[in-house]
Formats: sequence, C-alpha cells, structure tokens
Amino acid sequence: MPTQLNLIREDITKLTVDAIVNAANESLLGGGGVDGAIHRAAGPLLLEECRTLKGCLTGQAKITKGYQLPAKYVIHTVGPIWSGGQQHEADLLASCYRQSLMLALEYQVKTLAFPAISCGAYGYPIPAATRIAINTTAVFTEAHPGIETVYFVAFGKDIEQVYQMVLAEWLGSKMSH
Ligand code: AR6
Repeated sequence: MPTQLNLIREDITKLTVDAIVNAANESLLGGGGVDGAIHRAAGPLLLEECRTLKGCLTGQAKITKGYQLPAKYVIHTVGPIWSGGQQHEADLLASCYRQSLMLALEYQVKTLAFPAISCGAYGYPIPAATRIAINTTAVFTEAHPGIETVYFVAFGKDIEQVYQMVLAEWLGSKMSH
C-alpha cells in the first residue's frame, strides 16, 4: 500500500500517532516553538533521555520515547538555520526528513507526523521548505514502503495554505507523468 500523505492543522503534541517529529536544536535539550511544546507535554523524563543522547548534528535525527505524549516515540531532528540559501540549507533540510523517515521505518512506525521543520525560529522560507518536505517524503516513501500515513502538521492558517498549494502542485505533477 502506498504511503498516504495528509495535511492537518493541529497541535502536534495532541496527535495519537506512533511517532511525532520534533524540530529541535543541536543540544537536544529543549527550546521554544514546537520543541518547547513537546517537552512540556511529554514531561521531564523526555529531557532526561535527551541528555543521554549528547546532542544531534544539523540534518540528522535521533529517537526517544514519547513519555506522557499520546505518541509512542519522538524523533528529534535538527533543521538548518536559514542564512540565505547558500549554506546547504536545502540539502540539510531534506536530510532531516530522510533521516526521520529512516528511523521511523527502523522502529516500525506506521503513522508519523512532521511539523514544518526550520519554518519558525530558524527562518526557512515556508514555500521552499514545504516543497522539500513533501518531495523528500514522497520520494522516500515510494522507495521504502512500510509507513502507512505521514501527516504534515500546519500550526496556523498561513502555513496550512502554503502546504495545500504545494500538495496540489505535487499531485498535479504526479498526474501529468
Ligand atoms: N504543533 C505543531 N507545530 C508547531 C507547534 C505545535 N505545538 N508549535 C510551533 N509549531 P519552530 P524551527 C510550528 O520555531 O524553525 C526551537 O527553540 C511553528 O509554527 O518550533 O525548526 C528549537 O529548540 C513552525 O511552523 O522550529 C530550536 O532552537 C514550525 O513548528 C529552534 O526553535 C517550526 O517552528 C528550531 O527552529
């Protein structure tokens, strides 16, 4: 069965899925935005486990349990800080999606939810980031079956509209092939 790609407008900490992805920083010791929300909802044991991981490089991902979250696992990935587009930001962002999907497969995750990695504090232009999110996930899941549903979680109307536009573009390009 092909992986379903869905868009939802939600707080990612509320989702009952096998794994949610956290847009973390290299320390993996928490922060603001979605990272702060995930740590608050998961409780202090998440931070304790994160401390044992000794950080994570930009573009890579590490997995922990979900503790008090409805999700069983949290996959922590570190998106690039946008600095104009010439610092390998696109490759690093694509790598975040691929590494997270790889961990999800390894842990038999069937339902996975991504926030818009790098689209908040890290300042990545949202349409470009959204295209990378969708294209990377589509290419990966076509090549590696096993995940049933991937949710792209938009945390506001503006970002939801961009995702809708990019998903429509992507479906259109798929149908013309
Ligand atoms: N559920 C879903 N999406 C959310 C939520 C939520 N509860 N809260 C925020 N977002 P950001 P980044 C969206 O800044 O740009 C942290 O301090 C938000 O609207 O969380 O990768 C880390 O520790 C935006 O669209 O992550 C790092 O230091 C998206 O999540 C740094 O921020 C990502 O915004 C990472 O920056």
